[in-house]
Amino acid sequence: MARATYLGHAAVRIESAPHAVIIDPFLTGQRSPVRPEDLRVDAVLVTHGHGDHVGDTVAIAQANSAWVVAPSELAGWLARQGVKTHAMHIGGAHQFDFGWVKLTPALHGSAAMGESTVYTGNPCGFLVRMGGRLIYHAGDTGLSAEMELIGRRNEIHLAFVPVGDNYTMGVDDAAEAVRMLRPRRVVPMHFGTFPGIEADTDAFARAVGPAAEVVVLQPGETTEA
Ligand code: NI
Ligand code: MN
Repeated sequence: MARATYLGHAAVRIESAPHAVIIDPFLTGQRSPVRPEDLRVDAVLVTHGHGDHVGDTVAIAQANSAWVVAPSELAGWLARQGVKTHAMHIGGAHQFDFGWVKLTPALHGSAAMGESTVYTGNPCGFLVRMGGRLIYHAGDTGLSAEMELIGRRNEIHLAFVPVGDNYTMGVDDAAEAVRMLRPRRVVPMHFGTFPGIEADTDAFARAVGPAAEVVVLQPGETTEA
């Protein structure tokens, strides 16, 4: 079994005792109920270089001596900030002590944009298998035909998809993504964190219809995968 806790925006902690990972740990500066120093994880998985996804990666990884798993160019940039990294790339999978991870395509950007812009490769999503459950985190992405392939090739128990529009899929495109991904259950994410990405989760649930069970989680809430 595995449990997933939504920590706001695109941050998700997946746990299957004794192991846990966190994806896209942007906690400081958003409404997450969890402080980075309180997290216990084996690994930090990062989909792309934008600040609202890298977030507290370095602090969490250092505090836990955790691996940072990311697309190769992003892993290189994070390694230079003093964390131990495991570089991967889209289409590649690896069996870790904590579980199995595969990188999936995402239609988005990835550069780290601070005082200067650093190229951090292509953005990704993650398939994570822990405790016999397969969880898909789409990352930041628009609707793409690759999702049909991901759904055909994987039996997804729980999916996290962005619905906030503007930077990613909106509600209607996310519902179409669910029809292609065919997860048993789906959680909307990447909405309501900052102006311009508000979303109507009731409209999302209506648009998904019988294709999957829609589970709307408030930050801090947990669901079984
Ligand atoms: Ni982004
Ligand atoms: Mn984002």
